[in-house]
Amino acid sequence: MGRTLIRGGTVVSSTGRSEADVLIDGEKIVAVFAPGSAIFGFDVAASADTVIDATGKYVIPGGIDAHTHMELPFGGTAASDTFETGTRAAAWGGTTTIIDFAVQSYGQRVFDGLATWHDKAAGNCAIDYGFHQIIGDLNTDSLQAMDGLLAEGVSSFKLFMAYPGVFYSDDAQILRAMQKSAETGLMTMMHAENGPAIDVLVGQLLAEGKTDPYYHGIARAWQLEEEATHRAIMLADLTGAPLYVVHVSAKQAVAQLAAARSRGKNVFGETCPQYLYLSLEENLGAPGFEGAKWVCSTPLRSRAEGHQEELWQSLRTNELQLVSTDHCPFCMKGQKDLGLGDFSKIPNGIGSVEHRLDLLYQGVVEGRITLERWVELTSTTPARMFGLYGTKGVIQPGADADVVLYDPAGHTSIGLGKTHHMNMDHSAWEGYEIDGHVDTVLSRGKVIVDGNSYLGAKGDGRYLPRGLSQYLI
Ligand code: URP
Ligand code: ZN
Ligand code: ZN
Repeated sequence: MGRTLIRGGTVVSSTGRSEADVLIDGEKIVAVFAPGSAIFGFDVAASADTVIDATGKYVIPGGIDAHTHMELPFGGTAASDTFETGTRAAAWGGTTTIIDFAVQSYGQRVFDGLATWHDKAAGNCAIDYGFHQIIGDLNTDSLQAMDGLLAEGVSSFKLFMAYPGVFYSDDAQILRAMQKSAETGLMTMMHAENGPAIDVLVGQLLAEGKTDPYYHGIARAWQLEEEATHRAIMLADLTGAPLYVVHVSAKQAVAQLAAARSRGKNVFGETCPQYLYLSLEENLGAPGFEGAKWVCSTPLRSRAEGHQEELWQSLRTNELQLVSTDHCPFCMKGQKDLGLGDFSKIPNGIGSVEHRLDLLYQGVVEGRITLERWVELTSTTPARMFGLYGTKGVIQPGADADVVLYDPAGHTSIGLGKTHHMNMDHSAWEGYEIDGHVDTVLSRGKVIVDGNSYLGAKGDGRYLPRGLSQYLI
């Protein structure tokens, strides 16, 4: 691979920006230095095998999407992106690392579930990948297995307060798992929605003939997200478990997290682009069955109630720390349409892995977050939160050369036939226009995206064993 010099750009980190050149040797960054300068009299440009001109571009650490679901089995089907198609789409969008969820299904042993996910991913990924572990059957054997997760490079596990009969854990199971989390340092990730209460509302709505996708958002009321978030926080408080609440969409749930953080608790939260931009009224309420494109859980929230604005604010004030996609794509034909006539049978999920950096950058353009916060939310904090920092999430000597050249003078039109490499027959983001563009993507020193050309290959991506979260105290 040799030496690559990225010259003339503005290097942006979570703490600042500066005009700097970046020297890469093989897979690693070896120097970040004032433009044009020689290092100890050594002519860097002359020694480089490749020089990339980054004039006018932001040079940022590759995106880390800490929440994806390639090939996730759900609702009688499976998420339509494989590790091959989904990671390639991620790369097109400037994401160079994903952390996907290995699934322990009901009746299965934890390490069998993890092995299945290794089999799905190995040799197929375009970018580096790690795993969180879904604990879908929380019994004595699972609790014992959790003692061995860290040695496998899995430092976090996800529990579900939703989906009774599928991945669901009750309070007694959650308490036990959180005790294990406190003991081992593994991060507890929580899907915080009151599943049993949701199921009652679902049954009542369907009995009243309210079967359209819109009612998915009515059944999954914000009160049930707030309540579950509060309950998770209290159980974490009691046990001392570090808690990370995934896909937060209700402003009331944010308030619960903010209150716990102000009491000094080890409690964190992520939101996703869909909750920042999309809404119950405009999207889930689209005519006919169209709203199925936006059925996900937690659901899109009402714009009239102001959730989106509150979420943007919480990203500014660090009440929420991360933006992940919860990428879980399903096609309309043959997948989402399983829920025609019964919204509860629509597979839950939206595909966004390709668009996270762009959609968040639009927040920079619109003055919602700073450039530095953009890098922090999409790369640096995910690396710190999930035990990858130093190798990933930063442009500094010794880090993997996962680097994105982002062009603020470029433009990205999102939609089918435009920017769309995900394995889906529609885009939840059709018509979104971004005042910026992912220009060049390097993954461990290899240029995998160069303008409109894809230069990567299946199998470029490696498994990333992770350490404990750097937010633990
Ligand atoms: O709708 C969603 N979020 N689907 C993926 C599964 C989950 O709960 O994260
Ligand atoms: Zn979830
Ligand atoms: Zn998810």
